[in-house]
Amino acid sequence: MKQRVLVASNRGPVSYQFGADGSLTGRRGGGGMIAGVADGLAALGPQADVTWICAALSDADRAAARQAASTPGAAGDGDGIPVRMLDIPPDTFDRAYNNVANSTLWFLHHLLFDTPNQPRFGLEFRRDWQAYLAYNEAFADAVAQEARTRAPSGGLRVLIQDYHLCLAPRMVRERLGDAAGGAGIAHFCHTPWAPPDYYRLLPEEMGRALLDGMLAADRAGFHAGRWALAFVQCCAAILGADVAAAGPAWRVTYRGHVTEVAVHPLGVDAPALRERARAGDVRAHVGALRQAAGDRRIIVRIDRTELSKNIARGLAAYRELLATRPQWRGRVVHLAFAYPSRSALAEYRAYTDLVLRVGLEINEEFGTADWEPLVLEVKDDYPRSLAACALADVMLVNPIRDGMNLVAQEGPVLSERGCALVLSREAGAAATLAADALLVNPFDVTETADALHRALAMPDDERRRRAAALAATAAADPPARWLGDQLAALRPSRLGS
Ligand code: F6P
Repeated sequence: MKQRVLVASNRGPVSYQFGADGSLTGRRGGGGMIAGVADGLAALGPQADVTWICAALSDADRAAARQAASTPGAAGDGDGIPVRMLDIPPDTFDRAYNNVANSTLWFLHHLLFDTPNQPRFGLEFRRDWQAYLAYNEAFADAVAQEARTRAPSGGLRVLIQDYHLCLAPRMVRERLGDAAGGAGIAHFCHTPWAPPDYYRLLPEEMGRALLDGMLAADRAGFHAGRWALAFVQCCAAILGADVAAAGPAWRVTYRGHVTEVAVHPLGVDAPALRERARAGDVRAHVGALRQAAGDRRIIVRIDRTELSKNIARGLAAYRELLATRPQWRGRVVHLAFAYPSRSALAEYRAYTDLVLRVGLEINEEFGTADWEPLVLEVKDDYPRSLAACALADVMLVNPIRDGMNLVAQEGPVLSERGCALVLSREAGAAATLAADALLVNPFDVTETADALHRALAMPDDERRRRAAALAATAAADPPARWLGDQLAALRPSRLGS
């Protein structure tokens, strides 16, 4: 029996570019969510009939979406997965994605607000909120339409991703009713979740609507127990929902419907990652980076240039390491690869400038004729990132707060000599990796500098032992398992319950 699986997410598995002649070429969309869902879907094989619904994010995506819409039966293709791209009006998309999802909900769940100044919920935000409603409706309409076009023998499962689409589960349930012959609806949040006191920064009606939307799902998933707990606490405190612990999960009853809230940590497909790292393009970068670093120790960090990733404090910690422990001067190189993110937002542009400025200061302060202490790159280069992981003696992953964090897992899997991991206690990955990482408070620069020193000075056999344990933990929850477990737990027969 074939199951029908509909995925809905803002960013999809393919993104388009215009060629010089105006033609369109697609390539895989970036980010941990895409990797997890796409690899998880690939593992389902022919037993699943999948469509991935996503938003057009650029002019080239819009052109591709229009082309597909005018060709009956055509769908875009993301790594073999049929894709339906939604051409949401640009102003609606901009307000929903940039103003509500990224500037408000992302800041909320990562505790990023500078509260004397932000947030400010006035009339303009009410307009943004209307756009967020319309954006979620566009996805719900598309899900309902897809659900009706092919009646599945093995049931329908709808997998809705992330904070962009908190309202969509309720809207999908309302649209489908019993018409689809039964569907299981899941929502998965790849971010942390804010604790109730912080969540209450949102205007009352919007805070309630987001929770109400998610509680129309049959399952709500998170990467770590902390985020799931914060979510159920919000449901109880803000909606007055009934919350009962059920083993490692929770059952939340609201408006007569039960939502299971569960934890599914996402790890990496270690064999596939190692295989990719053996390719020629990665090996060429390994050679070049090793030549540049010589026989010095290598500290690696790889992030989006994202406020929550805490890159500036990480660089400050490296600076403090060099200032307070002069024995490392000339003996270590820090590779910091910070690829561009959300440049439509002023805060992100300013943050990138700050990171570049701090980087320059470090090289000016400590660099010598034959030693560049910091190699800071702000361009995306996936093979180079894999090469850096292969060479790492130390991985630095110090987010202010992070839903999971895949780099903390990829580093130990790929490092050829075994790396030590300096990890923020506020990353979701700390829940699984704590025993073998050096945990730090991401706000404590001195503690982070001390941890870098301990990591650099760690005896080889201890470093190798810890890296092997970290890699084994990361490999235990590959995308196939992460997605397979969610689908298996999502019974497709409870629609309308
Ligand atoms: O890490 C959480 C997450 O929502 C991922 O699901 C996704 O990769 C990313 O953040 C979204 O970022 P962007 O705005 O660049 O699509």
